[in-house]
Amino acid sequence: MEERLVSSDAHREDVSLEYSLRPKFLHEYIGQDGVKDNLKVFIEAAKMRGETLDHVLLYGPPGLGKTTLATIIANEMGGNIRTTAGPAIERPGDLAAILTSLEPGDVLFIDEIHRLQRSVEEVLYPAMEDYCLDIVIGKGQTARSVRIDLPPFTLVGATTRAGALSAPLRDRFGVLSRLEYYAPAQLAQIVKRTADILEVGIEEEAAFEIARRSRGTPRIANRLLRRVRDFAQVRGDGTITFALAQEALELLQVDRLGLDHIDHKLLKAIMEKFMGGPVGLDTIAATIGEEAQTIEDVYEPYLLQIGFLQRTSRGRIVTSLAYEHFGMEVPEK
Ligand SMILES: Nc1ncnc2c1ncn2[C@@H]1O[C@H](COP(=O)(O)OP(=O)(O)OP(=O)(O)O)[C@@H](O)[C@H]1O
Ligand SMILES: [Mg+2]
Repeated sequence: MEERLVSSDAHREDVSLEYSLRPKFLHEYIGQDGVKDNLKVFIEAAKMRGETLDHVLLYGPPGLGKTTLATIIANEMGGNIRTTAGPAIERPGDLAAILTSLEPGDVLFIDEIHRLQRSVEEVLYPAMEDYCLDIVIGKGQTARSVRIDLPPFTLVGATTRAGALSAPLRDRFGVLSRLEYYAPAQLAQIVKRTADILEVGIEEEAAFEIARRSRGTPRIANRLLRRVRDFAQVRGDGTITFALAQEALELLQVDRLGLDHIDHKLLKAIMEKFMGGPVGLDTIAATIGEEAQTIEDVYEPYLLQIGFLQRTSRGRIVTSLAYEHFGMEVPEK
């Protein structure tokens, strides 16, 4: 699959830059006010009591700031962050090794926590509940269980699929925070903040133009900003003006709503070949030569979210909003 400018997953270039672009404290974290306000209270209360923060589960689509928030929690609590990911922990012993090396007050960040193996997950239960490990030593008749105390720590789990988490694991988090797509005004603020860090001038309207086309996602906003900055350097005087941003984004084939040629291909296939649907996923897949799974997991979510596409029991339907976007008449049926 080709790498899309508007995909919300991290590209290689994002990974190397994101570290420097990440806000370090809550007051620098833009948007997600509900989540932020709650965390602020919980963090302050835990600090007043001299305790560690309760375990936090962060969930929501890719690129909205889960990893960023995990780092911020550690910074605000004055602890270190240890980062790992569900698929990286192969055996229960691997997790035990990490847990026993924690310092009091540390944050253990487990990304993609829905992908933990069940046997590894079971090590987490007593660790989260009682800060201890139950380890079985020996085999058969001589086997016995020993309990090891752990330092108090905060587990921060992140997942794009909260529904895939097992109930016993989910129940052990005291704080569950769902991240939402950002409104253009907040994304514009993020774009301006990033431009500041990258030391490039940007007009207010240009920041909004990038924001509107970023699919509610800071990662995409920062990526589009970097590409537009390239145009500003080569074609302009280095400052990102409104006109330059518009021109650059047209050339990059990211339209007014952040749709690219793949979104266009999908929508137009349904509009032009199936009168807007309903049409089955497999038929769409065959028509545009993509796998049904890819369409469902990667292409459709944003189109569903902005109401351009609907899933019905009889198949996919393109809505009148999409027809309007393309300046087309809604067909009479
Ligand atoms: N609220 C915010 N304010 C400023 N910048 C943000 C904010 N949220 C995210 N970002 C920026 O967006 C980028 C992506 O964020 P982050 O890596 O935290 O996303 P994520 O939710 O962990 O994604 P994934 O699901 O792919 O792991 C970061 O470089 C960060 O700088
Ligand atoms: Mg992340």
